[in-house]
Amino acid sequence: MFKLSKKLQELPPYLFLEIDKAKRKARAQGRDIIDIGIGDPDQPTPKHIIEALSRAALDPANHRYALDQGMPLLRRAIEAWYKRRFNVKLDPDSEILPLIGSKEGIAHFPLAFLNQGDYSLVPDPCYPPYKGGTILAGGKPYLMPLLEKNAFLPDLKKIPLAARKKAKIIFVNYPNNPTSAVADKSFYKELIDFAHKNKIIIISDLAYSEMCYDGYKPQSLLEFDGARDVVIEFHSLSKTYNMTGWRVGWACGNEKLISALAKVKSNIDSGIFSAVQLAGIAALSGPQEHAEHMCTLFQERRDVLMRGLNSLGWQANTPKATFYVWIKVPQGKDSIKFSALLLEKANIVVTPGIGFGKYGQGYIRMALTVNKERIREALDRLKKI
Ligand SMILES: Cc1ncc(COP(=O)(O)O)c(C=O)c1O
Repeated sequence: MFKLSKKLQELPPYLFLEIDKAKRKARAQGRDIIDIGIGDPDQPTPKHIIEALSRAALDPANHRYALDQGMPLLRRAIEAWYKRRFNVKLDPDSEILPLIGSKEGIAHFPLAFLNQGDYSLVPDPCYPPYKGGTILAGGKPYLMPLLEKNAFLPDLKKIPLAARKKAKIIFVNYPNNPTSAVADKSFYKELIDFAHKNKIIIISDLAYSEMCYDGYKPQSLLEFDGARDVVIEFHSLSKTYNMTGWRVGWACGNEKLISALAKVKSNIDSGIFSAVQLAGIAALSGPQEHAEHMCTLFQERRDVLMRGLNSLGWQANTPKATFYVWIKVPQGKDSIKFSALLLEKANIVVTPGIGFGKYGQGYIRMALTVNKERIREALDRLKKI
């Protein structure tokens, strides 16, 4: 009786929900499933952050509507963190906007700048809300293939003039989900130049900026000359502090872009639960050893997985950042069929590359979200399929 809107019909089903269904079904059958599909850290949130939430939750002052723009104290904690981490000075009143998780801001941002039929330049494969947010805003995702031969960076020179003219936004995400690729300085310089020349906004998604190995430290785009005119950067507390369920992140960068996103959000949500904001402050301003410990833990897991994959003869680059390993499907099989086979024959859940876009075909993504013993167990099972 009720017809879905055209926009909703255009949206592909959210990949992780589909995978979750298959996983639940297998678990309900009593099978011992190793889930290295979704990128959700398996470790708990550090105790001092939980304690900050508990204290704040007991205070009735925190039970009321929060400020849309986030608590000034949280914005200042973000400002200080940014300065320490990237040596970039942000104005906490005009250049920082707390979000109910970075996904929320990323998906809402296109509403601020796209008119019907405008393009977003979207990497493919990519984190799904780049396309979803574009479509819901009435825009069209213009795909930029991320290919191994280009180190999984978009080839900006290949974007035709007609597409540049229609484009209002370009999404980039380094360290990258799902490919785990990282960006170098020359790519960022070229990107900023491209944005200026074509009058296109850069959305830089830095959800994985703190998950890095072997001494590598990702940069903020805002460290580069000319970036502040064209960049909005999205950050998340989810992965850095094991806070995926808490829903807190932020956007920062160009003042006009920030205030446009704030205007969209003021019509949609009413801010982040104040107790969660106070916990966010504890995360950003408190001891940082935990985040360093998590990198060591993921690095060890990565090494176990990479050794195992190499001995199986599977092809994957060793990630310098993120907790994902992007693996070529052996013998070039279809990524969905191969993922289904792994679930069927080895009780292992992975994410089929095609779920991130058509250029993800021929790949699967594994996440380092189980302990080393389970990774070894998974590798043993893979040997037997
Ligand atoms: C690339 C990327 N950006 C953003 C997010 C969203 O993070 P948040 O929990 O802050 O919404 C994720 C989560 O998986 C991600 O992979």
